[in-house]
Amino acid sequence: MPPLSNLATRDVETLVHPYINLASFRESGPLIIERGQGIYVYDTDGKAYIEGMAGLWCTALGYGNEELVEAATAQMRKLSFAHLFTGRSHDPAIELAEKLKEIAPVPISKVFFCNSGSEANDSQVKLVWYLNNALGRPKKKKIVSRIKAYHGVTVAAASLTGLPANHRDFDLPLPGFLHTGCPHHYRCGEDGESEEDFATRLAAELDALIVKEGPDTVAAFIAEPVMGAGGVIVPPQTYFEKIMAVCAKHDVFMISDEVICGFGRLGTRFGCEKLGFRPHSISIAKALSSAYLPIAGVMIPEAMYQALLAESKKIGVFGHGFTYGGHPVSAAVALKAIEIYARDRIIENAAERAPRFQARLQALGQHPLVGEARGLGLIGGLELVADKTSKRSFMPQHGVGARTVQFAEAEGLIVRSVLGDVLTLSPPLIISVPEIDELFDRLARAFDKTLDWVARERIAQS
Ligand SMILES: Cc1ncc(COP(=O)(O)O)c(C=O)c1O
Repeated sequence: MPPLSNLATRDVETLVHPYINLASFRESGPLIIERGQGIYVYDTDGKAYIEGMAGLWCTALGYGNEELVEAATAQMRKLSFAHLFTGRSHDPAIELAEKLKEIAPVPISKVFFCNSGSEANDSQVKLVWYLNNALGRPKKKKIVSRIKAYHGVTVAAASLTGLPANHRDFDLPLPGFLHTGCPHHYRCGEDGESEEDFATRLAAELDALIVKEGPDTVAAFIAEPVMGAGGVIVPPQTYFEKIMAVCAKHDVFMISDEVICGFGRLGTRFGCEKLGFRPHSISIAKALSSAYLPIAGVMIPEAMYQALLAESKKIGVFGHGFTYGGHPVSAAVALKAIEIYARDRIIENAAERAPRFQARLQALGQHPLVGEARGLGLIGGLELVADKTSKRSFMPQHGVGARTVQFAEAEGLIVRSVLGDVLTLSPPLIISVPEIDELFDRLARAFDKTLDWVARERIAQS
């Protein structure tokens, strides 16, 4: 390992980084990004990288968008902070809520603003509990999520998340959080089972879980339209249709976590539109402001709002809210981002380029290292395997995914590896066709280098 630069040493001695082995990180050090433009970011040596993950699935409009910068500075000059507590308000929050109601894929009554996807999902849980207390159903409180789901890291959101590292030794999930089957046909489908039969089995499994727990105890079901951090898992045909029927049968509130899929990732404004389901409420974040500033929200239906009204009337106050929820500068940026999405046909253009992106993804799926290539719109996952026929994974300790990320970085491409050596791709929605080709050319070279390394180290055999 080469010695760390001065800045890298200062980083290692001062920061706790999320999602890294903190012990080995002390030697490898950080990749320090200094600036960005379009789909590119540049490190402290001036090296350019295609941001193949749009940061963390979020910078939909790429970097250096002057209109967003201008929206932020203008609002900061005019009113740098105002809150929404105790009946105070400001026009950016009002305008943004109106806009979100207008573009919502299902009827929405109100918007509750917060700052992150985790806060949005934590709020969803609390609002569902509040709702069922208002409706006189104090036992109906359990929330069902899915294995491999990612809904964030605050205590309730991490309980919804279905990934082992978010639970282990954090003493999570909390009681009352249940996880049903993951809709991943490649890994969880049975031999010879069609996608549709798999979807039917998953819906039956959810039904059985709710019946076993008691329908009068199960309040809500939450799902990402396409699972992101769990490994870009696209559900099988007819999945949501069947799941929604089970939720309806047991009067279970359905929440769509659109933190990644919202605002165009799948080629439609919301992911539920692409996958053909109608949730009761929706969590939004990330591309809402193209990640220029933190802002998130819960889109609340009228029936839930009526329950909030009734409870707050009874108790005397609606006791929930975040200091920075609906921050005027973040709200002004989000409004501008939504304006740009519509004016510049960003989502339609992304949908037009999606076939090229998916074709290149599938082509790379032929690589000897790839067990499955999967994706929708401008999101993709490539699952690396030691053996294509048996689908045998690499042993986690070899860190094959992490090694591929390093080879990609050497090629000038940022991608991410998640649990199970799945390489994930989610570039800015503004990516052009030549840039898509360049991204996959770089990734293919990184895969070839990984394959050489795997052979050299005899990793596939172990
Ligand atoms: C689907 C989904 N929900 C929630 C979250 C949590 O968002 P945050 O990291 O802003 O708390 C994420 C983050 O990646 C996510 O992908």
